[in-house]
Amino acid sequence: MELALPSAGVRQPDDLDTVRASYDRVADAYVEMVESTGLGDIRTHPWLEAAVDAFATSVAGLGPVLDVGCGPGLVTAYLAERGLDVRGVDLSPRMIAHARRRYPTCSFDVASATELDLADASYGGLLGWWSLFNLPRDALPEVLAAFARALVPGGRLLVATHVGDEDRVRTEVYGHAVTWTTYQWRPEQLANLIEGAGLTTVAELRLPAEPPIGPTVVMCAQRTGWDRQGVAGDGPER
Ligand SMILES: C[S@@+](CC[C@H](N)C(=O)[O-])C[C@H]1O[C@@H](n2cnc3c(N)ncnc32)[C@H](O)[C@@H]1O
Repeated sequence: MELALPSAGVRQPDDLDTVRASYDRVADAYVEMVESTGLGDIRTHPWLEAAVDAFATSVAGLGPVLDVGCGPGLVTAYLAERGLDVRGVDLSPRMIAHARRRYPTCSFDVASATELDLADASYGGLLGWWSLFNLPRDALPEVLAAFARALVPGGRLLVATHVGDEDRVRTEVYGHAVTWTTYQWRPEQLANLIEGAGLTTVAELRLPAEPPIGPTVVMCAQRTGWDRQGVAGDGPER
């Protein structure tokens, strides 16, 4: 199944097709990098793995999980191994071809984060794991708002992305020509966007640059209205 339905209230970025074509061009090299160096594999990075583990624990039993911008499917498969009902979607058909080859028992579809037809309150968890940084600055809030609506009360969003202020125009990545912009965000800006979308931040992890990766932020946010202990409102003091 190929998903291509516009999300309510989300504009399609003008450069979506060129970004898709760029990821198609680099997909083989990206997978080769992951397989030969472990870069991009959370299992080689204890802090990133811990963040995904905590997310997985916190959404267990809440409903399906969607890994948006799943690339070759590593995190999707990791979450499936942990027993979650998870599916991956990605803009790039070539990335999805790799995901299906690597993880034949997992479910993957081709779709942009801006094209998802997400029913209200239908997901226990959503991820934008290193996959939302190509969304133009005015598109990200709309995507986050669609994500927020799609979460069940108590459901959680996990985002990892590049920290900074730049709109970094990239022409070569993973040894191949690309045409995309990496929109960096300061953690407080990202937190404001996430909260503006109607979610409540539950955790934030800041990591310094570890070349070749620059500084990173991981944020987890929750759709409010319910908590894991089933206590409505503010809950107990501790
Ligand atoms: C650096 S890779 C990360 C892949 C995966 N999340 C991981 O960590 O292994 C970035 C991915 O985001 C995808 N992507 C970029 N823009 C997207 C969009 N608008 N919708 C869905 N996926 C997108 C790319 O195709 C690419 O596979």
